[in-house]
Amino acid sequence: LRHLLSLQGLSRAQLETLLRRAQGLTAHAYGGIGARHALAGKAVCTLFFEPSTRTRSSFSLAAQRLGADLLNFDASTSSTTKGEADIDTLKTLEAMGVHAFVVRHRQDGAVAMLARAAEPGTVLLNAGDGRSNHPTQGLLDMLTLRQAKGEDFSRLKVLVVGDVKHSRVARSDLHALRTLGCGEIRVCGPAALLPDDDTLQGCTVGDDIDAMLDGVDAVITLRLQRERMVDGLIASLAGYHRDFGLTAARLRLAADDAIVMHPGPMNRGVEISDEVADGLQSRVLRQVANGVAVRMAVLEALLGD
Ligand code: CP
Repeated sequence: LRHLLSLQGLSRAQLETLLRRAQGLTAHAYGGIGARHALAGKAVCTLFFEPSTRTRSSFSLAAQRLGADLLNFDASTSSTTKGEADIDTLKTLEAMGVHAFVVRHRQDGAVAMLARAAEPGTVLLNAGDGRSNHPTQGLLDMLTLRQAKGEDFSRLKVLVVGDVKHSRVARSDLHALRTLGCGEIRVCGPAALLPDDDTLQGCTVGDDIDAMLDGVDAVITLRLQRERMVDGLIASLAGYHRDFGLTAARLRLAADDAIVMHPGPMNRGVEISDEVADGLQSRVLRQVANGVAVRMAVLEALLGD
């Protein structure tokens, strides 16, 4: 593996190796204990052209906990505001000795394009491009699911609910769930927010959230991505919450020990109620913690000796 651009095309063995390594790094990731030097002498740059709290912060912590030098590039105060091309930005930072770029971009395929332009030996990690891929979110979601339900996904029923159409998280989760042999993948949302390409292949699809919740072991609730929507796709947020919001009453339709995940940031009171977001079944903050472990594992795999 030279770059991490997508989970599509990665084998089950590759995913499981990364997840096992991430699990092994959780003590370092959760507690920051024990300095590690796996990436000493390497320079990692977070190159974000879109906002982020979780992904950027956890990649930064992961790189530092592995002993790498860290450069945080802020597009809003950079020469991109003077019109510098993304490739020239990459080449400029590469010339300073950056070995790995963690890139978030609003355009689908932008990270792959930069990977093609990079020098041999430079590593690109996709931290989310458009609505296409968010591979480390997919991995941290799978790690969270394994911690709760075990490594064998073959009997699991997992529901992905919400704005799948605009969600790079959903696409990465669906690639990973299929590759890891998830027993049943259900997808639920209003027709206007479901993709009409092959994203949903192999999934049970419907728009009745109560029916789709029946007996599931995990619910992945997605953020309504209003910044990527054309006007009018959603009539009202209150109506969306009424028809698709995950409430405590609805969650009782799932298995008693079902877990709830959300990639964040959450629109509380829209796709998820406060009661569920902060409830005992929520794994939202565990997902965040797992983000550091997964990003350590990925950086180590791509940049380590
Ligand atoms: N889940 C996620 O990508 O969150 P951020 O946008 O805060 O990085």
